[in-house]
Amino acid sequence: MADPAVDDSKFLFLENDFRNSGVAQADWMAKKMVWVPSEREGFEQASIKEEKGDQVLVELSNGHKVTINKDDIQKMNPPKFSKVEDMAALTFLNEASVLHNLRERYFSSLIYTYSGLFCVVVNPYKMLPIYSEKIIEMYKGKKRHEVPPHIYSITDNAYRNMMQDREDQSILCTGESGAGKTENTKKVIQYLAVVASSHKGKKDVNPDSVAAAVAKQQQAGSLAYGELEKQLLQANPILEAFGNAKTIKNDNSSRFGKFIKLNFDVTGYIVGANIDTYLLEKSRCIRQASTERAFHIFYYMVAGAKDKTKEELLLEDFSSYRFLRAGHVEIPGQQDDEMFDETLEAMEIMGFTEDERL
Ligand SMILES: Nc1ncnc2c1ncn2[C@@H]1O[C@H](COP(=O)(O)OP(=O)(O)OP(=O)(O)O)[C@@H](O)[C@H]1O
Ligand SMILES: [Mg+2]
Repeated sequence: MADPAVDDSKFLFLENDFRNSGVAQADWMAKKMVWVPSEREGFEQASIKEEKGDQVLVELSNGHKVTINKDDIQKMNPPKFSKVEDMAALTFLNEASVLHNLRERYFSSLIYTYSGLFCVVVNPYKMLPIYSEKIIEMYKGKKRHEVPPHIYSITDNAYRNMMQDREDQSILCTGESGAGKTENTKKVIQYLAVVASSHKGKKDVNPDSVAAAVAKQQQAGSLAYGELEKQLLQANPILEAFGNAKTIKNDNSSRFGKFIKLNFDVTGYIVGANIDTYLLEKSRCIRQASTERAFHIFYYMVAGAKDKTKEELLLEDFSSYRFLRAGHVEIPGQQDDEMFDETLEAMEIMGFTEDERL
């Protein structure tokens, strides 16, 4: 199924490993493999040696034998389900099997996994080559089970459902702090900005000419985004500068909730968007824990403002600001001064006037 043209496929497609081997299957049957609770691992593999009423004698992988209550063991799925893409397909749907499957996939750099209608994402904490235009093209118009699990597939399906059923669709991103809600939300917008772009080059429905137009744009070095799409993508850096801050859990933690609404015309092109924000943690402006920070923009401004602006705004060094001093921690890999320029640039694209910007 893997497209040889997509060299990043190992980050999305399952490599054909031992899963379907008869040996693995026979081994699993013979050993009566199960999951037993483990303090260090959550659950670990064991094989049933003997059953005595409510108790079972199991042998752990290190050779130790223990007797545990029958209620404490969870059934293990046959090897053919190893790294399964949709966990709803598992024969035994229990906590141990779900965690095991997510972990196995994560170790193989497969961060997206379906669980019925849901898409579970494990934060990779590193940039994977799975968000390129090439990958977007791969997901366009494909049904969920024709392509590997991805936030793009969720987005594409929502988009197609909207076009087909003429009904509003929503995608909810939820999880603990640092789980990846903000990053995945941006991928949803990025995908729609390409697929539902009102950009002229994309309006032509002839696939050949679309391909030609995209190729031409790529040659010219520009991405296939229109003005509106550019603005959509640039709203985030501004929101994050003013509403995100470093916390102990996440260097870029959103300190507010948001509801992003994208509007499409009848032919499916993006025609507008609005963002509602909720419950901004305002108290962070004056108080931060010692390893946390206030909102990014304060640090961007003090670190990044040029001499002229500094003079005009009477900006001084960090040490002069009591409200910033407690939380002035550097964020690894983030240059506050460069981010200041990026924020200003985003504001310009969004149509803020020069007066409004500084
Ligand atoms: N798909 C991804 N690829 C690469 N890195 C990621 C991905 N998702 C998350 N990250 C990393 O994890 C960090 C935290 O993710 P994110 O800010 O999206 O969390 P969040 O769920 O919005 O948390 P919060 O509730 O604190 O706002 C990101 O800054 C990024 O470094
Ligand atoms: Mg967030």
